[in-house]
Amino acid sequence: MTETNQATELFQFVRELPKAELHLHLEGSLEAQMMLELAERNQIDLAYDSVEEIQAAYDYSCLQDFLDLYYQGMSVLQTPDDFRDLAAAYMKRAAEDGVRHAEVFFDPQAHVSRGLAFEDVADGLIEGLMAGAEETGTSWGLIMCFLRDRSEEEAFEVFTTAWPYFDNGRISGVGLDSAEIGNPPEKFERVFAAARDQGLYLCAHAGEEGPAQSVADTLDLLQVHRIDHGIAAVNDPALVDRLADNGIPLTVCPLSNVRLRCVENMKEHPLKRLYEAGVCVTINSDDPAYFGGYVAENYVAAATALDLRKSDLAALALNSIGAANLDESRRLILLKDLAALASNI
Ligand code: ADE
Ligand code: ZN
Repeated sequence: MTETNQATELFQFVRELPKAELHLHLEGSLEAQMMLELAERNQIDLAYDSVEEIQAAYDYSCLQDFLDLYYQGMSVLQTPDDFRDLAAAYMKRAAEDGVRHAEVFFDPQAHVSRGLAFEDVADGLIEGLMAGAEETGTSWGLIMCFLRDRSEEEAFEVFTTAWPYFDNGRISGVGLDSAEIGNPPEKFERVFAAARDQGLYLCAHAGEEGPAQSVADTLDLLQVHRIDHGIAAVNDPALVDRLADNGIPLTVCPLSNVRLRCVENMKEHPLKRLYEAGVCVTINSDDPAYFGGYVAENYVAAATALDLRKSDLAALALNSIGAANLDESRRLILLKDLAALASNI
């Protein structure tokens, strides 16, 4: 087989793997084309006139560089219809990559602080997720993130506003994102305790730009079910053992980590070392519109650079289904479909 044919075959194989995507910011799936269309629809002045101009700006030296563009980009999202279109487009695109269950984040504070109503954002997203699920058969869960560079008080405010959505199950969990350095998990200990009391699913970004200690502190203080990113854990063997022994999943995002220079290049990515140490590693796309690849492209990029075999990729897809916050009947369906495909490897 030629190299091109091999790459195409690998991509096809990855797309057919039934999988869950567990680390995806809906606002980070805002494609340049949609950004332009929404800017026109809502009469918003963008600093860019074309898809090419927007994409040319996507050159980051660190997480904060990206966050600046990410918060700026989402200013085109104004109405419930905009949020619905965004979520529906993601569901459709994810299904093309074999995503059968998607656990997706949104950042309500980034919208409420621009004067939007929480309900307009959440209702629009939920409508889009439901429409996408109807069209593709992909199930979903919605996780509300607190912005860690804002105050604890603001986190509690948005938590209180979201209460009806926890009650009706439309928002199933809380997460923690934005600038990691200088915003340690202890700042959000009390709001995570309140979310735990409410029976919500808990996750938090840690060890993306921050050190291994940030992962350990997040586990100790926030008592999360999983860690988003967590790649810095590789620097602490005791922490790696802790993650492996306790089956704590990591939602790793290879293309994001390279684009944000959290790792030097894909060959240096710690994903394989963590996986081989027995950690429940999963592969995800984070902010695909900003990092140049949806979930299948993340699998392929990691597989190519790190010499992962098809059986490893199936094991990583299995991790994603096992780590999903999913009802057991749905999990069983996905596991059976994956087993059927994996038996032919
Ligand atoms: N918000 C969106 N993407 C993020 C990332 N990779 N890290 C922290 N916050 C984010
Ligand atoms: Zn993220």
